[in-house]
Amino acid sequence: MDKKELNELKNKIDINNLPKHVAIIMDGNGRWAEERFLPRNAGHQEGTKRVVDIVEVAADLGIKYLSLYAFSTENWKRPKEEINGLMKLLVYYIRSELNKIHKNNIKVQTMGDISKLPKIPKQEVEKAIERTKNNNKMVLNIGLNYGGRDEIIRGIKNILYDVKMGKINEEDIDTKIFSNYLYTKGMPDPDLLIRPSGELRLSNFMLYQIAYTEFWFSDIYWPDFREEHFYKAIIDYQKRDRRFGGI
Ligand code: FPP
Repeated sequence: MDKKELNELKNKIDINNLPKHVAIIMDGNGRWAEERFLPRNAGHQEGTKRVVDIVEVAADLGIKYLSLYAFSTENWKRPKEEINGLMKLLVYYIRSELNKIHKNNIKVQTMGDISKLPKIPKQEVEKAIERTKNNNKMVLNIGLNYGGRDEIIRGIKNILYDVKMGKINEEDIDTKIFSNYLYTKGMPDPDLLIRPSGELRLSNFMLYQIAYTEFWFSDIYWPDFREEHFYKAIIDYQKRDRRFGGI
């Protein structure tokens, strides 16, 4: 798509009806690489470039929250070499992009148990969170060692503890209170979930938060995901009739 076509597409977006929160399952890196007879990590490397692009595109457009699924609680099952490659890319991403992220007033947050990450990625992530904590243009929420079920169990344990300590009453627990026990505390639920690569499943991503989220699936692999696909997903989203269980 040339620049003119891209601008025409962008102009179709109703700026007053943007999804506040966009979540992306960045899938298909491995297949992208395998189709090119490249190692899987080459796919993750190309996928990291798309992270750089989409963070900028989303912030420029005025998206307030962008959640990216970078590493799941199940991804530890992958070969050590692939895990190490992903951790290196995370470190590379933060080291090379943090200045720009900060300059663009983007706040980095994570969801998932980052205490289990190897030392250097953990330190870099913590540095990014600390440095950008007062930024307010967009929240970049990265799922790292994240699993939706794990998040819900953790929330239950923490809420039980607070009940036991007398901090809250059991009778007062409702969806609003429970959402404060999730990693996404204070964030609105995703309005739009994008999953490229042709898979039609959630893969343990934001299970609680996604109750009324609109889905956008595409056959392209994440390393092929461009600005135009992001715009197309938003244009599609804007055509949906969201009723939240009402009529
Ligand atoms: C899924 O593709 C993708 C991942 C498990 C990793 C996503 C990570 C990145 C794009 C880079 C690192 C993240 C940041 C935030 C810098 P897959 O490997 O499952 O693909 P496949 O289904 O084709 O095998």
